[in-house]
Amino acid sequence: MTPPDSAPAASSPPSFRDRVRGAASPSPAVAELDLASAPSHPVALFLGWLDGAVAAGVVQPHAFTLSTSSTASGPSARTLLLKDVDDAFWFTSSSLSPKGRQIAEDDRVALTFFWAAQGQQVRVTGSAVPGPRDVAEQDFRHRHPDSRAVAVAVPQSTEVDDEEAADEALDRARAEVEADDDLVPDDWTAYRVLPVSVEFWQATTGRDQVRVRYDRVGDDWRRASLWP
Ligand SMILES: Cc1cc2nc3c(=O)[nH]c(=O)nc-3n(C[C@H](O)[C@H](O)[C@H](O)COP(=O)(O)O)c2cc1C
Repeated sequence: MTPPDSAPAASSPPSFRDRVRGAASPSPAVAELDLASAPSHPVALFLGWLDGAVAAGVVQPHAFTLSTSSTASGPSARTLLLKDVDDAFWFTSSSLSPKGRQIAEDDRVALTFFWAAQGQQVRVTGSAVPGPRDVAEQDFRHRHPDSRAVAVAVPQSTEVDDEEAADEALDRARAEVEADDDLVPDDWTAYRVLPVSVEFWQATTGRDQVRVRYDRVGDDWRRASLWP
């Protein structure tokens, strides 16, 4: 059947409720989140939840939504892969991409992790700052040669209006990457986000949720329980 070229009216059958009625819900087989026994540092709790998601076989448990905004272009969000966590959350991308340009204009960002089966969400806010050059270089060298060529050929998110020219640029980039294993484009950037707040949301076995937010206060973290 040819797909409709315009969105169907919201009331077309089946209703949206019927479409999602049979969808699986979270079945959190995880320890309940508790303000009193939560670790004093949010990264410790984050890593515990990430380990749990890995152990449960979640696909790409380190994927998250990065939200950025700028006065000129408004809000924007996309999925990235987390590259590391220490006192900061690390991701890599091109500083010439739309997200890179937004960060250059306003470095405040939000990271959202969601592990559906676990019924867990983590929301991080902070500023994204370019990290040391050697971290970006190491990340780039570990990428598959095809991904490296794509990143070298044309700036990320550029509109392709001439497929032939784009293919030629990709072929040239492939040859450059093959000839030089150490080739890292100047715009490839490892960003580190030092968190100022980290909120944990946990579905419970009933229909409740538990929320705990950590706010940075100087070198310490203040913990608060939030009404769901
Ligand atoms: C699972 C997944 C992982 C991704 N990981 C990255 C990443 O680590 N870095 C990146 O630049 N883009 C990554 N992308 C692509 C981004 O979602 C996005 O399309 C791209 O970065 C361009 O975003 P921008 O136009 O807002 O700058 C990933 C996409 C998916 C679906």
